[in-house]
Amino acid sequence: MDKNYWETFYLKQNAELKPSLFARYVADLLLAPKEIVELGCGNGRDALFFANLGHSVTAIDQCESEIKFLSTRYQQLKNIYFMHADFTKMDNRRPFDLLYSRFTLHSISAQQEKDVCIWAFNNLNVNGYFCIEVRGQKNEIFRKGQPVQNEPDAFIYDQHYRRFLNFDAFCHELKQIGFKIHYAAEEKGFAPFNGENETYIRVVAQRK
Ligand SMILES: C[S@@+](CC[C@H](N)C(=O)[O-])C[C@H]1O[C@@H](n2cnc3c(N)ncnc32)[C@H](O)[C@@H]1O
Repeated sequence: MDKNYWETFYLKQNAELKPSLFARYVADLLLAPKEIVELGCGNGRDALFFANLGHSVTAIDQCESEIKFLSTRYQQLKNIYFMHADFTKMDNRRPFDLLYSRFTLHSISAQQEKDVCIWAFNNLNVNGYFCIEVRGQKNEIFRKGQPVQNEPDAFIYDQHYRRFLNFDAFCHELKQIGFKIHYAAEEKGFAPFNGENETYIRVVAQRK
């Protein structure tokens, strides 16, 4: 969804380059080099942060031009692979230790979210983590913009789609799939940006 919006956004090359606070938080969970997959890597800032810490990273995004740019720019790094793909249509692959999704699950429909969570569970190693940061229904822009037909929690605002997750329902969904919740909160302080401190959901689920 919104492929053209994100292609244009990254072509401007003015997205944040520093790793997110979430990436730093997640890195602290990992005591040894791990196999990480990132869904919706954008300009690659968090994927590169993990790779620079010694992890092996597959960083997926739908933006072909950005993935081409990153593949060329960082071709000397042997432990990172930038992959052009739709992360809602992934096949089974070599199992990984950590699946990282920052601000991407609100870009897809509820059914796609469920399918991605099941795919995550089936492809994570035992004890592996699924780490998510996402907009929820306490987020300050929830219900702003144009409602999306047949999707009660989705809106087009600032020219792109966002579906705001219900925190309790999302945790329940993960538990139903078989995940154990290692950490879950919906609060401010996770991703302050440009003087704003909005409310986001942060979840770390573990496959036991
Ligand atoms: C809000 S940006 C977040 C980028 C990055 N995770 C970060 O935190 O800086 C959302 C990213 O997810 C990507 N994306 C959204 N839906 C996708 C899909 N179905 N498959 C692959 N990438 C997707 C977009 O292209 C965009 O780069």
